[in-house]
Amino acid sequence: MEQKKLTVLDIKARKKDGAKISMLTSYDYPWALLVDQGGIDIILVGDSLGMVVLGYPDTAPVTMDEMIHHTKAVTRVVKHALVVGDMPFGSYNVSTEKAIENANRFMKEGRADCVKLEGGRTMAPVAEAIVNAGIPVQGHIGLTPQTASALGGFKVQGKDADAARALIDDAKALEDAGCFSLVLEAIPSPIAKMVTEAVSIPTIGIGAGAGCDGQVLVIHDMVGLFDRFTPKFVKQYAKISGTIASAIAEFKTEVENGNFPEEKHSFTMKAEELEKIRT
Ligand code: KIV
Repeated sequence: MEQKKLTVLDIKARKKDGAKISMLTSYDYPWALLVDQGGIDIILVGDSLGMVVLGYPDTAPVTMDEMIHHTKAVTRVVKHALVVGDMPFGSYNVSTEKAIENANRFMKEGRADCVKLEGGRTMAPVAEAIVNAGIPVQGHIGLTPQTASALGGFKVQGKDADAARALIDDAKALEDAGCFSLVLEAIPSPIAKMVTEAVSIPTIGIGAGAGCDGQVLVIHDMVGLFDRFTPKFVKQYAKISGTIASAIAEFKTEVENGNFPEEKHSFTMKAEELEKIRT
């Protein structure tokens, strides 16, 4: 049975009904098809795209055009999941006008259902302006990869009482700004649980423990298709790079020894036509 398309209201309602939210990234048609058919609630076209698909060293170089190109590929196929377009670094920290303009692009060109942006209290006014422009916003606090250099690297956030209190303030500011949910990244589990209890919108954790209202992972990490590093919070549910490598090796061998293509993968023609050419 085909499931109905989820909306931000369905996601918000999960906070009350208690059903956990599943979220995975996708960046193109085949992955979005698998994830959507798998019944995942939210598909994030994450700027992690820059690292796991485009080969950049981090997410900072990702452009709006790259994000829109991949968001279009995802929204062409998705029928069930809510699709979140991840605003890349530089697309919302220049001015509120520019932020609204870029969020509009995700909706008009990318056909996303909403956008995500990183940052707490300092970004709350920008989130609020985008919400007021009619575009639902998902917040993202804790470890914010786009500004990792300002955080001193890819480190767990909120590890002392002051930092933990600041995270709760960030979460409340984003809730007040009208965000419909929050991603909590790399936060000690007890603090993520406190943040979750402090707000009335769902929290979706990545490296934030089981006390969140949902969980998100980068799909290339969880299926073993990204080889540069695997963060501690990633559970690898498969190691498909091994399967793909075997297939490539087998193809190469069969091409070299003439075993591919066999007749069943080749085309034939009428014998008399072939004879005409031969004679
Ligand atoms: O870009 C991304 O994939 C993300 C997730 C890590 C939440 O922001």
